[in-house]
Amino acid sequence: MSIGTTSGRRPVGVRIAGTGSALPKRCLTNADLEKMMETSDEWIVQRTGIRERRILNREEGESTSQLAADALKAALADAKLTAADLDLIIVATMTAEMSCPASASLVSNLIGAGDCGAFDLTAACSGFVYGLNIAHDLIKGGAHRTIGLIGADALSTLMQYNNHGRSTSIIFGDAAAACVIKATDDTSKGILAQSMHSDGRGWKEIYVPRCIQDLPPGVEFDENKLGHVQMNGASVFKFAVGTFPELIQQTLEEANVAAVDVDMYVCHQSNQRILHAARDRFGLPEDKLYVNIDRYGNTVAASVPLCLDELRKSGRVRDGHKVMFVAFGGGLTWSSSLWQL
Ligand code: COA
Repeated sequence: MSIGTTSGRRPVGVRIAGTGSALPKRCLTNADLEKMMETSDEWIVQRTGIRERRILNREEGESTSQLAADALKAALADAKLTAADLDLIIVATMTAEMSCPASASLVSNLIGAGDCGAFDLTAACSGFVYGLNIAHDLIKGGAHRTIGLIGADALSTLMQYNNHGRSTSIIFGDAAAACVIKATDDTSKGILAQSMHSDGRGWKEIYVPRCIQDLPPGVEFDENKLGHVQMNGASVFKFAVGTFPELIQQTLEEANVAAVDVDMYVCHQSNQRILHAARDRFGLPEDKLYVNIDRYGNTVAASVPLCLDELRKSGRVRDGHKVMFVAFGGGLTWSSSLWQL
């Protein structure tokens, strides 16, 4: 099957040519958290499925953009390409070190990409899947041929590892993962169906207030809130349990693909219970919906590409497969991307 053409241009397919990831060295286990706040391994595992997560150390040179650059270098090596082959770098992140320049510019400098487009994309945990759709369509439209897309986040920088932050700091971890997306003459490769959604009315469900004016009306001021993720866990949970299956169903219908014909579901790793609910809803076998949240927690924009990299490296996702990517997150945002690899 040929996936679309661009009028006036030679039709191109789009492929994921390489993937890579980078993790901070420091590992924070549930046992470590037990020493920092009132919580327990049992509570965390039962509610989330998380056993440990990685936390970066800026004093040792680790940062969102350093991890992002390492992940992209690994993806380029996997694709047997160099930084000079890239014509655009997109970093999906909500934890750029600075508001200017973009993380993507820092990454471009770190990998020596020279003259290369670079911008950050902020859609919280949905950022990487938004990026897949955007990168695909930029190549499909003929404006670009080789794009480095990275999901990189360091939510540890927005956490309090004490009782004030115990409902969020147990969930999030730091990571970066990347893919190189490339034009190909094989027009059977690329996106079969995609979507990008947001409902700004839900912004108060997950937000990071910088100052008192950022707090929603009616929310009491507390200095501990500033600079730290505020999340209505129960409400986000309810939203996600409903949204994941709906998003998958709509995307399958648009592509006219049956749930069983998708080789792998790569879903944002937010909570093991949310993932299992989606798997049960479609009656999928355990090995078709990948879960690695036990080892990394919720790594925000890095979560989906980190799964993809592990799946490609283990051979469970390969050329010719159909792969469904779905994510949801702050905004509220949610997004899907069904690929013919
Ligand atoms: N350890 C022990 N107890 C904790 C705790 C912790 N780390 N964090 C919170 N608690 C307490 C709460 O204070 C509450 O106590 P109370 O009943 O005395 O008030 C109790 O545990 C239950 O809290 P609740 O929020 O109802 O738990 P939950 O079953 O909803 O689980 C989450 C909490 C956050 C794990 C769950 O809501 C969740 O995963 N939500 C989705 C979050 C998400 O996916 N976010 C990312 C979006 S991209």
